[in-house]
Amino acid sequence: MDKIFIMDMGSQYSHLIARRVRELGIYSEIIPYNISISDLMFLNPKGIILSGGPSSVYEENSPKLEKSFYEYVKTQGIPVLGICYGLHLIIHQLGGKIDPNNKKEYGKTELDILEFDSLFYSLNKEEIVWMSHGDQISEIPAGFKTLARTKNCPIAAFGNEEFNIYGVQFHPEVVHTARGTIMLKNFIYNIVGAKKEWKLNSWIETNIESIKKEIGPNNRVILGLSGGVDSSVCAVLLHNAIGDRLHCIFVNNGLLRKNEDLEVQKQFKEKLNFKNFHYIDAERLFLERLKGVDDPEEKRKIIGHTFIEVFENKTLELETEHPSIKYLAQGTIYPDRVETATTSKNAAKIKSHHNLTLPENMKLKIIEPLKDLYKDEVRKIGKQLGIEAELIDRHPFPGPGLAVRCVGAIDKEKLNILREADLILLEEIRKAGIYNDLWQVFCVLLPVKTVGVMGDFRTYEYICAIRAVESKDVMTASFAKLDWDLLEKIGTRIINEVKGFNRVVYDISNKPPSTIEYE
Ligand code: XMP
Repeated sequence: MDKIFIMDMGSQYSHLIARRVRELGIYSEIIPYNISISDLMFLNPKGIILSGGPSSVYEENSPKLEKSFYEYVKTQGIPVLGICYGLHLIIHQLGGKIDPNNKKEYGKTELDILEFDSLFYSLNKEEIVWMSHGDQISEIPAGFKTLARTKNCPIAAFGNEEFNIYGVQFHPEVVHTARGTIMLKNFIYNIVGAKKEWKLNSWIETNIESIKKEIGPNNRVILGLSGGVDSSVCAVLLHNAIGDRLHCIFVNNGLLRKNEDLEVQKQFKEKLNFKNFHYIDAERLFLERLKGVDDPEEKRKIIGHTFIEVFENKTLELETEHPSIKYLAQGTIYPDRVETATTSKNAAKIKSHHNLTLPENMKLKIIEPLKDLYKDEVRKIGKQLGIEAELIDRHPFPGPGLAVRCVGAIDKEKLNILREADLILLEEIRKAGIYNDLWQVFCVLLPVKTVGVMGDFRTYEYICAIRAVESKDVMTASFAKLDWDLLEKIGTRIINEVKGFNRVVYDISNKPPSTIEYE
């Protein structure tokens, strides 16, 4: 299968570039910019994209490519496209000049196209593109020619047709570059000549076969099922491959939404006919350990450790019963892996995320069938595997569940109040037909009591905050501008129907500086 590799120079858009390439039917992966040439040769790229990045080529420690990189791509005939910093690097390393002191340019700009036979084939003379750069090219190396310019940037795109090395100053991968997809198509299909071989239908068949082969005819697999999209799709895929040799463990940590424990059981035990679905009710244990704990990080740690303990105990019990349990499956997806490997290393720790991590002393082999997929691909596969759309399109729900939405120390009473309000909120949002337009929507219990009046009585109850956000990439999110009438209806229902809340507020904070969850 033809593959295009994105060499990551630290851009926030690297995943976006890889996803765009995949949407065009070509498999793509992100690799570090400092990969050795021998490792790169082993990957056998059909084409390479150098991402943008926040650095300047003149900074001492900014990402640079090995000199032999250019020899390698030229001799092997591998086309290269540099985007923003990637373009600066090509120019800088091949003998051109970058001017660091030029005017910075951010936002939409009109591109004036000068050459139409390669990157800009079939486009108009003028196209809208998205710029975000400080440095810019003042001189291109011999053999290259200018393909486009903007008002502030005389060399906004260049190309070397002999070696198929191209660069663009703007970002074709973002939606603000109106016809960026055509530019990427031109690079991928016409210049690289990649064949459209990345198809999710055949992915399912091929992967079911390879799971069967890897697990063998007798071994069994354990999977921690949370009811979220990734672990659910992973479960159904494995179930298709090895049937009831798959053992799913679902832990009710007492922090789930109302009826969630019942719904997940119904889905897997009844509808999907999973015979080895192991439900563990650990509510009491979790709540006991969380009693009186109000520090958010401490709460997360307790939940993470308790989960691992419960999960491990059940696994040991199952292993005694079925010594052929040899694998632990995880619903890890591609961004989880790449983020752990690269970007998050330098990122400040904002919150510790406790998901289904493998206890260190477990001797099981890991299998991660979704490890190369993006979330939208996992969703498509889930639908093709016949999982209900309602489950597949669910908003993300954090591992520590309602604990991070019930501020401060938690107990069953507060959680129940929150559950009732959350149910009303989701019901109204679904009724209004906007659930799928929102990234997440949920209620939060603020442990502050205020005065209200119900009939002739004074009330003194907690505050319910409503959080509804829109986001594309989770790194940034903006509060949803919900309709006032809808908000009024939700607020009125919560105050009238949920004993424990007498005031509802709407959260109008964006991320950053706020986060999506409260703790
Ligand atoms: P924040 O609150 O950091 O959240 O803006 C970003 C996204 O991550 C989800 N989230 C979690 N997901 N385990 C998870 O699986 C966690 O511990 C966790 N904490 C936050 C959050 O819902 C949002 O989608």
